[in-house]
Amino acid sequence: MRAPSKENSFLRALSGQTVKPPPIWLMRQAGRYLPEYREVRAKVPSFLDLCRMPELAAEATLQPLRRFDLDAAIVFSDILVVPYALGQKVEFVEGEGPKLEPVRDWDGLKRLQLDGLAEEAAPVYETVERVVAALPENVPLIGFCGAPWTVAAYMVEGAGSKDQAAARTLAYRQPELYQALINLLVESSVRYLEGQVKAGARVLQIFDSWAGSLAEDEFQRWCVDPTWRIVTAVKAAAPGVPIIGFPRGAGPKAEHYARATHVDALGCGTSLPLGYIRSHLQSLLPVQGNLDPLLLVAGGAELDRRVDQILAMLGDGPFVFNLGHGIQPDTPVEHVARLVARVKKS
Ligand code: CP3
Repeated sequence: MRAPSKENSFLRALSGQTVKPPPIWLMRQAGRYLPEYREVRAKVPSFLDLCRMPELAAEATLQPLRRFDLDAAIVFSDILVVPYALGQKVEFVEGEGPKLEPVRDWDGLKRLQLDGLAEEAAPVYETVERVVAALPENVPLIGFCGAPWTVAAYMVEGAGSKDQAAARTLAYRQPELYQALINLLVESSVRYLEGQVKAGARVLQIFDSWAGSLAEDEFQRWCVDPTWRIVTAVKAAAPGVPIIGFPRGAGPKAEHYARATHVDALGCGTSLPLGYIRSHLQSLLPVQGNLDPLLLVAGGAELDRRVDQILAMLGDGPFVFNLGHGIQPDTPVEHVARLVARVKKS
């Protein structure tokens, strides 16, 4: 692991400073594209088991930092740890992604128990403690949760889906039921994020991977309002811990999200134009993003060109280099090394 610099560039960028070269970390920087991760993963029957084994999860968290000059670590876990902790059946089926027993009525909702969260989330907090103890003091650890809309959509759909049709239809048909589910997730997310901060996380990110499927009114009700409630509560309990919001696919609604949720920084997906990010978003708050993960799979001159383009467009303001979505499992490790080196010598 590299020697720590005096002041961490990621924290400086999140506080609004322009940092040159900009800090870099990568969503899903731990995971299957790393052979050493696959080795750890092979020791346990399922991915969810790995999330609940602090020693191995801490090892997975640290692996990318041993290889690359990254400016932050992100705790190895998953957004679906929360529904699992609430008592929903959650499984990760090899090659198929997550499978959950769908919650679609009041009976299903009533079976979920906030009381179990503290105990079920304890292994994640222990992972955070272990990672923080192992990291150089100046490399912060990011804690995270899924945003209520995205997690609720998984809970209702029972699996990943293209357009979240079951969740959106339920929300139109039974808004009271949907609101009760969202309220439960707001409360669990606040507790879960606070638990990670208590254990040593110094930055938080809220992943709203499916923000893009919501129409304007629903974007306000299911994405912006719940995120604002989480941000407000976590900031009251943990002032000074920056929160990055990532409403993936929100398009021009990202500006309202940035103003209304009170997040400290905005994660930008691949589809947001760089000119728009600079003029409408970076003028309001630090931004993070937004290289297409498939460019990192492809590599070569096109990767270099697009990295330089992002740096030229966003590097003169508060900026954190990242992807627009998580690293793909088929990403060559050398491409990641090339990306990090290029950003660092910019
Ligand atoms: O970024 C990191 O390195 C930290 C770990 C992390 C994981 N998932 C590990 C993981 C984070 C931050 C997540 C977030 C997550 N999980 C999101 C939000 C971001 C996004 O990608 O949109 C979502 C929607 C999930 C839900 C999820 N978890 C899915 C849909 C899948 C299956 C798809 C796949 O890639 O296999 C997962 C599994 C998962 N989460 C893996 C990892 C490393 C792969 C599991 C394995 O090793 O078998």
